[in-house]
Amino acid sequence: MQTKYFVVDKDEPDLKMMEEAARLLKQGGLVAFPTETVYGLGANGLDSEAVAKIYKAKGRPSDNPLILHIANQEELVPLVTSIPANAQVLMDTYWPGPLTVVLERSRLVPDIISGGLDTVAVRLPGSKVARQLISLAGVPIAAPSANTSGRPSPTSAQAVLSDLEGRIDGVVDGGDCYIGVESTVVDCTTPVPTLLRPGGITVEMLIETLGEIEIDPTLGGSVECAPKSPGMKYTHYAPSAPMVLFEGRYSRIEDFMLEEIQRALEMGKTVGAIVSAETAQRLPENLIVAIYGQRGQTAEIAANLYTALRSFDDYSVDVIYAEGIDEQGLGLAVMNRLRKASGYKIIKV
Ligand code: TXA
Ligand code: MG
Repeated sequence: MQTKYFVVDKDEPDLKMMEEAARLLKQGGLVAFPTETVYGLGANGLDSEAVAKIYKAKGRPSDNPLILHIANQEELVPLVTSIPANAQVLMDTYWPGPLTVVLERSRLVPDIISGGLDTVAVRLPGSKVARQLISLAGVPIAAPSANTSGRPSPTSAQAVLSDLEGRIDGVVDGGDCYIGVESTVVDCTTPVPTLLRPGGITVEMLIETLGEIEIDPTLGGSVECAPKSPGMKYTHYAPSAPMVLFEGRYSRIEDFMLEEIQRALEMGKTVGAIVSAETAQRLPENLIVAIYGQRGQTAEIAANLYTALRSFDDYSVDVIYAEGIDEQGLGLAVMNRLRKASGYKIIKV
């Protein structure tokens, strides 16, 4: 299949192109589109056959449910059985934006969206291109990140094409995603809402809005308990080579990483490193280096993270060493993704 390519301005998308992309969706096709977090792979969320194509194109396990994307808050009502007060507060505060709420689903939501759960995840994205596409399609749009399952999420149309070209009907290129990590997923069916996936809306923000928040125990990195967000149990966000993550204080990480890198080089390995600009200055020359940003500039690091992880695809590195960051603010989402990308191969220093 030929993947149609539509380039649009992110603030004033060309209506003709958007209509053409929406038509592909209405016909049951798959169209990737930008959101402020990552690119999504969209299909008509009320059409089980169209949604089945998403799982096929991505190679995604069928028990991993999808997020339905809407363009206006009112479109949530027919998709759920009720809207708890907490959920309403969250939506009023953070929609449109990088927040996904999990609620009891109505019968309108096809089983294939929910992977057998009684709930549905819904998000109203901030990106204008995304909202306009959803509006023009006239239905909720099911959209996981537009990557091959297990790979880092795409934050540019180029990254979408490198995974899915020829497997999807179209991609709308609205430039790079400015947040760069996925939306925060909050389960609002529990008395106190539960954080299932850290993302663009930080825990600090959620606590400020709600007063308190439960944290799903599996987010600590323990893989023993069954995750409530089914997607969290799979290897994810991983670059093409095995990755080892260093966690701890900056100064200690730097020293331990340098030692480990030296050892790998002496063994004749081709080594990659994903690091801050500061650490990059201390690295030996014969490495493949991806810089994610300046230390402490967490928003910049989040925005660059997936491109940095994907940059190793062009080289055959034997091992990648990653520099961990502080977990405050967006740092929690960044560390969650780095831990998963490493398959929990973590060196605490
Ligand atoms: O930022 C984002 O959320 C992006 C953009 C495209 O909107 N989408 C995205 O979708 O990241 P995906 O499929 O890659 O991740 C959805 C996450 C998964 O961890 C999935 O398990 C969880 O949301 N999820 C979906 N439905 C759920 C439900 N009913 N209950 C609990 N978790 C759910
Ligand atoms: Mg994903």
